[in-house]
Amino acid sequence: MSHGRSHGPLKSSVFFAYPEKLCDIFVPLARIVLLVFMVSSISIVLYTAFIPQSPFILFKPVLNVNTGGEPDTAPTNISHILFGIGGSAATWEARRVYSSLWWHPTITRGFVWLDYIPHKNQDRNRTNIWVPHRLSSPDWTKFKFSSSKSAVRIARIIRDSFNEKLPNVRWFVMGDDDTVYFTENLVSVLAKYDHRQMWYIGGNSESVEQDTMHSYGMAFGGGGFALSYPLAEKLVRILDGCIDRYYYFYGSDQRIWACISEIGVPLTIHPGFHQFDIRGNPYGILAGHPVAPLVSLHHLDIVDQILPNRTQMDALKTLIEAYRADPHRILQQSFAYDIKRKWSVLVAWGYTIQIYPLLLTPFDLQTPLQTFTTWRSWGNGPFTFNTRPWPPDPCKQPVLYFLDRVDEVGMAGTRTSYKMAQTEHKCNSTEHANVMAVTQITVSSLKMPPDYWKKAPQRQCCEILDHGKIKDGSLRIRVRKCRKWESISF
Ligand SMILES: *[C@@H]1O[C@H](CO)[C@@H](O)[C@H](O)[C@H]1NC(C)=O
Ligand SMILES: *[C@@H]1O[C@H](CO)[C@@H](O)[C@H](O)[C@H]1NC(C)=O
Ligand SMILES: *[C@@H]1O[C@H](CO)[C@@H](O)[C@H](O)[C@H]1NC(C)=O
Ligand SMILES: *[C@@H]1O[C@H](CO)[C@@H](O)[C@H](O)[C@H]1NC(C)=O
Repeated sequence: MSHGRSHGPLKSSVFFAYPEKLCDIFVPLARIVLLVFMVSSISIVLYTAFIPQSPFILFKPVLNVNTGGEPDTAPTNISHILFGIGGSAATWEARRVYSSLWWHPTITRGFVWLDYIPHKNQDRNRTNIWVPHRLSSPDWTKFKFSSSKSAVRIARIIRDSFNEKLPNVRWFVMGDDDTVYFTENLVSVLAKYDHRQMWYIGGNSESVEQDTMHSYGMAFGGGGFALSYPLAEKLVRILDGCIDRYYYFYGSDQRIWACISEIGVPLTIHPGFHQFDIRGNPYGILAGHPVAPLVSLHHLDIVDQILPNRTQMDALKTLIEAYRADPHRILQQSFAYDIKRKWSVLVAWGYTIQIYPLLLTPFDLQTPLQTFTTWRSWGNGPFTFNTRPWPPDPCKQPVLYFLDRVDEVGMAGTRTSYKMAQTEHKCNSTEHANVMAVTQITVSSLKMPPDYWKKAPQRQCCEILDHGKIKDGSLRIRVRKCRKWESISF
């Protein structure tokens, strides 16, 4: 003790001997406290991260103002969407059959917005109206317009819908009264995006002439489009002033786009929204659907029936039956070859099969057959995707098969059958006659898992079963995931 140890290691007696050196003991003590704190907080974080049912709730999930307390990070489902249907009292009676195809009375949320409430006589079948209707807020008549007054009213549906102030709305989906949605697929598309950010999602017109006249950057309203809550919130603040600024535009969808462009949010294009700005037979687009979920169809009373020898409504109901059995798979293409017979087979699941009596590359098969013309000029193109002509040589034309029956196999599988179309076949080659021996095709497959479209898209593979044996005019095909090193060619 007699030797100066003041700058030596700390000893208990030092404290009393040199009380002015208080910090000598305080600093190491603080270090120990800090160390204990760090170790314990790291262990709590690890504990809560690896044990989800942890009793210690350290971090509360982020709550949105409009969620009514529901955690805002739960996966998006149909309940998070508010639909706004642009209708009119004069046409709703005839058009509501389209929404009856997809509207689920106890699950789907939204309204059809009308200019006036139909007269009682006109509305005799009120019990059949599943979609609740609302009157557009009446001040729409005060706005400037050049060609269509109702375009102003329809554009303001987003504002009317927002002002309903319904809880837990993440997405506002706007469409026409003749838009048919495939809601399971709509949900899987929207669920990929963070609804707490500003998103504008939809598709544009198939006809280039329409896109150049209106805009490539706008979501065409007939195919439907989605606005996330924060974008809708911002849009409704500027909407009325903006509508007057763009009074000279044609449609409501173009007004919405113009106003969103003032916010600076671009359109996120998704290939599953179908405006169907085409004339004639939509077969080529449906059979040549891209590797993307089918989200919507439109203009169905203008294009030809999608299945031969049926009314459009019956045809749609048949397609929707397949969609219900395996929602994510509807219209998905896969290709197979019968090398011995030199056949190429294209399956567009739940809709159609084509058999060509020749070998065509997958590159050709994936390209839509041009069975339609453009919307405005009924021209031969151009379209926003490549097409191939319907082969003029009858011997190079495919034999077509259309969906006839859908069966579920257990919980996990489906069997769909397709019947040969009763069309005139002008080719009398033996190759063609061989294909014609197949009058029915049965396709078996496993249902696609719910997260299918959350992963990177890839076309599935298919194979002809029983070594291509045709029994009672029937051929069997299986569609399945491609194997690791599998690619399709002949
Ligand atoms: C959608 O998710 C919410 C939770 O975020 C849940 O309360 C609701 O019941 C779900 N709706 C459907 C139709 O599954
Ligand atoms: C009402 O519904 C019935 C059956 O669905 C139909 O036959 C009838 O034409 C409908 N009436 C009107 C006015 O649309
Ligand atoms: C068309 O439909 C009718 C009635 O469903 C049926 O009797 C007829 O055989 C069908 N024709 C063809 C060519 O499939
Ligand atoms: C195919 O039909 C054409 C006329 O329709 C005929 O001239 C030709 O001989 C036929 N060929 C065969 C192989 O039957």
